[in-house]
Amino acid sequence: MSKQIETEFVQAVMPTYNRFPITLVKGQGSKVWDQQGTEYLDFTSGIATCNLGHRPPAVQQAIMAQLDLLWHCSNFYHIPSQEQLAQCLVSQSCFDQVFFGNSGAEANEAAIKLVRRYAQKVKQTNQIEIVTFQQSFHGRTLATLSATGQEKLKDGFGPQLPGFRYLTYNNLSELDDLAQLKPIAVMLELVQGEGGVIPADQKWVDKLVAICHQHDILIIVDEVQTGMGRTGKLFAYQQYNFEPDVITVAKGLGSGFPIGAVLAKANVAQALSPGTHGSTFGGNPIATTAGLATLEQLTAPSFFSQLQKRVTYFWTALDQLSKQSDIIKMIRGQGFLIGIEIEGQVIDYVNRAREHYHFLMLPTGPDVIRLLPPLTASEAELDHAIEILRQLFVS
Ligand SMILES: Cc1ncc(COP(=O)(O)O)c(C=O)c1O
Repeated sequence: MSKQIETEFVQAVMPTYNRFPITLVKGQGSKVWDQQGTEYLDFTSGIATCNLGHRPPAVQQAIMAQLDLLWHCSNFYHIPSQEQLAQCLVSQSCFDQVFFGNSGAEANEAAIKLVRRYAQKVKQTNQIEIVTFQQSFHGRTLATLSATGQEKLKDGFGPQLPGFRYLTYNNLSELDDLAQLKPIAVMLELVQGEGGVIPADQKWVDKLVAICHQHDILIIVDEVQTGMGRTGKLFAYQQYNFEPDVITVAKGLGSGFPIGAVLAKANVAQALSPGTHGSTFGGNPIATTAGLATLEQLTAPSFFSQLQKRVTYFWTALDQLSKQSDIIKMIRGQGFLIGIEIEGQVIDYVNRAREHYHFLMLPTGPDVIRLLPPLTASEAELDHAIEILRQLFVS
């Protein structure tokens, strides 16, 4: 393909993304290859999506087998893989029922509709307020953008959907005002991913949960980025010792195949009935087959104990590195959702890592680097990453 035609192709795509100047054409495990055959160690995992690495064999086999049977089937009929995946998600969590969509934003959109309908039809109140938090990210649709607590993302897209209030994340004293706002729900990430990899403080979560329980306010946890093992447990809420009413997942659920889901407790899920919500592609046979095969891997007996060992190994090495570096200001996060706050321009380090060391990492804002290793990364790959980070940050 000539350069000329490639440029024309690029220009045919709306300019919503700033792209790095490489084209990835193949992936396997923690590695990806570009058009020229150069190999990269990928610690971005498609932004926390390829949690089992690229093309995990068991998921690939399951998808291939389903491709030979049935690709699409409308939700007018039973879809066995959808029902099995729902059952599997329910058995691994504190929830009772699942709705499937195709992305994180769509899952959050459904969660917002669900709590509104619960408030109106079950609780019979006309309150609509949902409290979310500054620096949060919940998606790019109008409702999820309205839920998002980052003004810069809303520029030019007004007016926003009414019914959202924003409090300061991890701020204990602001929670004293929560009940007065009379919200029907709060919606939060337990590690703010796009907002700079900021984990929620346990004390703050404890207080938030206590207030919500006392005042009958629903809790929605957006696990689109934190879910499917990313933080070291299947779901991040399982690290914080409480049971949300609703969670949303997407990204890692299909190992890279598009899928999203809302998981809810029975009392909330009962607000929906046939015809109240739906999605043509939601829960389709291929996506849910991918989800089921992914979940089977994640719930294998020793998966999380093995992961925990590698997480501890990597964090220990990162902590040592941080002590030796004048550039690293702070390392934070949970499991394999890691933010490195640095002195200097993040984008320069991201570019240098890619160009000189063939190592892929992501910027999150001007001063935070996000590392999202596949949960399956080997000790040798983690060592290799640490060596590159040493070259970058320890002079
Ligand atoms: C926490 C969170 N919620 C929602 C979304 C939106 O997901 P999607 O891009 O699949 O719509 C993202 C995407 O990065 C996310 O990190």
